Amino acid sequence: MTMSWHTMMEFEPPLVGCVISGRNFSFDALRKTKECVLNIPSAELAKQVVGVGNCSGSRMDKFRKFKLTPLPASQVAAPLIAECYANLECRVVDTRMVNKYNFFVLEVIQAWIDPTQKNPRTLHHQGKGVFMVAGETIKLPSRMA
Ligand SMILES: Cc1cc2nc3c(=O)[nH]c(=O)nc-3n(C[C@H](O)[C@H](O)[C@H](O)COP(=O)(O)O)c2cc1C
Repeated sequence: MTMSWHTMMEFEPPLVGCVISGRNFSFDALRKTKECVLNIPSAELAKQVVGVGNCSGSRMDKFRKFKLTPLPASQVAAPLIAECYANLECRVVDTRMVNKYNFFVLEVIQAWIDPTQKNPRTLHHQGKGVFMVAGETIKLPSRMA
């Protein structure tokens, strides 16, 4: 599934929180397996991103339909997506907010990037099919890591 409702929660261990609708196939899969891979695409994959987010894996193989290449992960059974800039192998570590908010807390246990993709133009969903594409970066003095 495509997901825009997510947030960093902690550096060490690296935690990511995400809201997943109970109507999605991914909700049951995550509840059952307690693991997943978060795939971070760049703008070249925008059409697939929207396509994947508008159909359900309960009825089809989205890798085939959207011509994406599954690669074996190292720590979890779910596959990586070869075309994505980054792939984060995750384990569910807290389900206390699932009943109330559909909010899963994931720990990233293995992270991969594609070193051939320099300055990836990642997609940032603004809602209703509108995306900001990452471009310019700036660096300022800061005590924050
Ligand atoms: C840009 C975009 C962002 C989305 N963000 C979320 C999200 O944060 N949480 C969610 O539950 N569904 C989100 N969706 C909807 C799911 O991706 C969609 O329901 C998908 O068909 C679920 O697939 P599945 O049934 O294979 O899990 C989003 C869809 C799009 C197109």
